[in-house]
Amino acid sequence: MAELTVAAPGSGVDPTHFKEAMSRFAAAVNIVTTDGPAGLGGITATAVTSITVEPPMMLFCINKTSPSAARMIANGCFCINTLAAPDEALSNIFAGRTDEHLEERFKTGAWTKLATGAPALATALASFDCRLVEAKEVTTHFVMIGAVEAVAFADESLCLTYVHRKYRAL
Ligand SMILES: Cc1cc2nc3c(=O)[nH]c(=O)nc-3n(C[C@H](O)[C@H](O)[C@H](O)COP(=O)(O)O)c2cc1C
Repeated sequence: MAELTVAAPGSGVDPTHFKEAMSRFAAAVNIVTTDGPAGLGGITATAVTSITVEPPMMLFCINKTSPSAARMIANGCFCINTLAAPDEALSNIFAGRTDEHLEERFKTGAWTKLATGAPALATALASFDCRLVEAKEVTTHFVMIGAVEAVAFADESLCLTYVHRKYRAL
């Protein structure tokens, strides 16, 4: 099917205003991981959503400059781990705020595996283990599209969210 492009990127919206508006957009905090022949990687990401239920598919957006992006593409898999409120420190580690990189970030936290081999966080509220279907380049980012091969979820507890540039438990 042909892609429908309704507006060219680069309209007159000031990027500062765009970021200010996006800071009001409350979102769940996730750690998206990978592992395989190219090695371990992972980042903190809020640009995550489901696409379809049947088949179960999800997407997330990652900056092309992240070393984890290349590893996800080479490994062909990623696992989206939706964080519970007590895992704020882990979010900071995977956001690069503690100067730990790639595999070093996995020294903290209890990690397991589901179907693809990408690390699943044992304390996550939910994990969505995905086989990479497509890495679509959109200007500065890749939109990573995945087929969900396994899920895990915990009993109801507080979700770590990010809004107004701060963490909140919801
Ligand atoms: C709350 C929060 C949400 C973030 N969401 C994203 C995201 O959706 N996509 C992305 O590429 N980076 C996102 N980042 C930034 C990355 O986590 C960060 O740049 C990355 O972990 C740096 O590590 P790297 O140098 O290994 O890529 C987010 C950061 C924070 C604190």
